[in-house]
Amino acid sequence: MNWRALFKPSAKFSVLALLVVGIVIGVVGYFATQQTLHITSSDEFCMTCHSNHSLKDEVLASAHGGGSAGIVVECQQCHLPQEPINYLIKKIIVSKDIIGYMTIDGFNTQEWLDENRREQADLARDFLRSIDSSTCQNCHSRIYEDQPEAMSKMAKRMHARNFKKDPDKRKTCIDCHKGIVHPYPKK
Ligand code: HEC
Ligand code: HEC
Ligand code: HEC
Ligand code: HEC
Repeated sequence: MNWRALFKPSAKFSVLALLVVGIVIGVVGYFATQQTLHITSSDEFCMTCHSNHSLKDEVLASAHGGGSAGIVVECQQCHLPQEPINYLIKKIIVSKDIIGYMTIDGFNTQEWLDENRREQADLARDFLRSIDSSTCQNCHSRIYEDQPEAMSKMAKRMHARNFKKDPDKRKTCIDCHKGIVHPYPKK
């Protein structure tokens, strides 16, 4: 076949018809990806690989799952950035975990988590620090400039003092709030 034909409008179909087909494929593809991203963000998805880990129980026992308001914060709401671009980047990084899942000996056991908790926690913390705990701030949006009356005095004072510092000297949420849902090991 003459490759130049690819660039010429087809003889059989009008350019418009081809355009319509192109848009349809594009739209279907877009939603298919959204759907995949959505499925791969549910707690069930996270727990397919982490099924023998106590992670979900820890959430349910914490203020982020056990509160009187009946709110259970999802894994991805804390762990995956909610801005589309950062979200995609993190997703692609996470896909290396498929290889880890297949190659790390005894990964999906509580023993593995207990033994490696500190190292894994620090990886998770490094990531959250790199996005300035933006996932926390999506929900807790009234920590600094618009503090609620009902917040404890101690909390208000600590948050206000942190906010007064130069932006690059400020601590991020997880610097002060360690082990917010999962137990952070001492050693
Ligand atoms: C394909 C299997 C798989 C799935 C699905 C999965 N994980 Fe993991 N996860 C792993 C493996 C393997 C590790 C250990 C990675 C390593 O140390 O190389 C890990 C480590 C982690 C860590 C600690 C290390 C780090 O880099 O932060 C967090 C946090 C985490 N997973 C959260 C999640 C969340 C949230 C989900 C759902 C959005 C999820 N995981 C889904 C396999 C998986
Ligand atoms: C999806 C929304 C959501 C996200 C994301 C979220 N939180 Fe929360 N957080 C809540 C809710 C709801 C409560 C319970 C509030 C209550 O009971 O009044 C809470 C409670 C808290 C508390 C007080 C209770 C305690 O355990 O001491 C702290 C501190 C806190 N969150 C910090 C964080 C940090 C740090 C992050 C990020 C790692 C985070 N939150 C992410 C919704 C969220
Ligand atoms: C400089 C340290 C520090 C930083 C940074 C910090 N906090 Fe706090 N926070 C505290 C202290 C101290 C308290 C009061 C004791 C406690 O509840 O743990 C508190 C309390 C809270 C509470 C409970 C409020 C209440 O009424 O008791 C929430 C929710 C919270 N912080 C969320 C956050 C979030 C989200 C961020 C990031 C935007 C953040 N904090 C950053 C130190 C800090
Ligand atoms: C309220 C926010 C929040 C929720 C909800 C949450 N995590 Fe975490 N997770 C964290 C933070 C913050 C760390 C970093 C370590 C620390 O400070 O305890 C962490 C650490 C981890 C680690 C590393 C090992 C460890 O225990 O520290 C894994 C794995 C993990 N989370 C998986 C999950 C999974 C799976 C879910 C859902 C069942 C989930 N997380 C729900 C905030 C959260």
